[in-house]
Amino acid sequence: MKVLVTGATGYIGSHTVVELLDNNYEVVGLDNFSNSKREVVDKIKEITHKDFKFYECDMLNKEALENIFKENEIDAVIDFAAFKAVGESVSKPVEYYINNVSSILTLLSVMKEFNVKKIVFSSSATVYGKPKSVPITEDAEVGGTTNPYGTSKLMVERILKDLYVSDETMDICILRYFNPIGAHSSGLIGEEPNGIPANLMPYIVKVASGKLECLNVFGNDYNTKDGTGVRDYIHVVDLAVGHVKALEKLNKEKQGLFIYNLGTGKGYSVLEIINTFEKVNNVKVNYKIAPRRPGDIDECYSDPSKALKELGFKCEKTLEDMVRDSWNYENK
Ligand code: UFG
Repeated sequence: MKVLVTGATGYIGSHTVVELLDNNYEVVGLDNFSNSKREVVDKIKEITHKDFKFYECDMLNKEALENIFKENEIDAVIDFAAFKAVGESVSKPVEYYINNVSSILTLLSVMKEFNVKKIVFSSSATVYGKPKSVPITEDAEVGGTTNPYGTSKLMVERILKDLYVSDETMDICILRYFNPIGAHSSGLIGEEPNGIPANLMPYIVKVASGKLECLNVFGNDYNTKDGTGVRDYIHVVDLAVGHVKALEKLNKEKQGLFIYNLGTGKGYSVLEIINTFEKVNNVKVNYKIAPRRPGDIDECYSDPSKALKELGFKCEKTLEDMVRDSWNYENK
């Protein structure tokens, strides 16, 4: 089976390409390197000892996209190509909607042209907004997103649902990620945000390595076990495996639109993450309690049982694996 992976050199895309190659899928990768590096292509080949076709291409360039479909008989697409910084999306909404919404419209129209019916879409738990209760199941209400990034994910989910209504021969899988952290155990690929990281784990890593002075823990008066925010952290390799499972499902089952949470089902607080990171890696993380960050919620963690039941997907990695692999990547 030949799979087109858009955003193939990004954080989650690169780990997914590794899993696909390890599972003998034929991969065609595409990226415009807007938030990743060309060298990731070689790192993936080094990890897997396998080759794959790669195109430097912007998804808004319809002609270039058509050429890729012409040159390769694509059976399915996994779409990761998107911007993902929540804060940045507030100051650059137009860029976010163009990159995250317009680009997939181009992709979907080219898929239609070439009669490609299977797509796995990279969505986010952010579509749940402020959840009414946890753990969050897939049938929880969506909406109430508080930034253009989140809204762009919600819009694309809606577009895919409308598309399915118009063409029930499509096979669509929407995956809602919780908080991906960690890196491949080789230390060759991992998360490399531009500038000062906005997310917790990349920030912890920079403080531990001395590149940043001190972590601000945003609020210790939340209604949680220790007052700090609770999230469902998932190892990026487990997340990548989830995509392979989703493809298997689309291959087996004909004609459907499926939605799955990808998370562990466990919630950890910011302080638990810091403490585990320090203990496992034997390194100090300077931190101080700071005011709440606007838009943050107390708790967000998944009910992962639907993915277990229907995809046979279960996270294998522990929090210890996650913090160790994040640190290992920084040190390599
Ligand atoms: N946090 C800090 N200090 C920091 C950064 C984060 O204390 O410097 C705290 C946050 O307040 C929160 C937790 O760490 O309690 C996790 O924050 P992240 O920014 O790492 O992640 P979020 O849960 O806010 O958001 C992430 C992604 C979104 C995605 C969402 C899905 O950034 O893209 O998970 O649940 F939509």
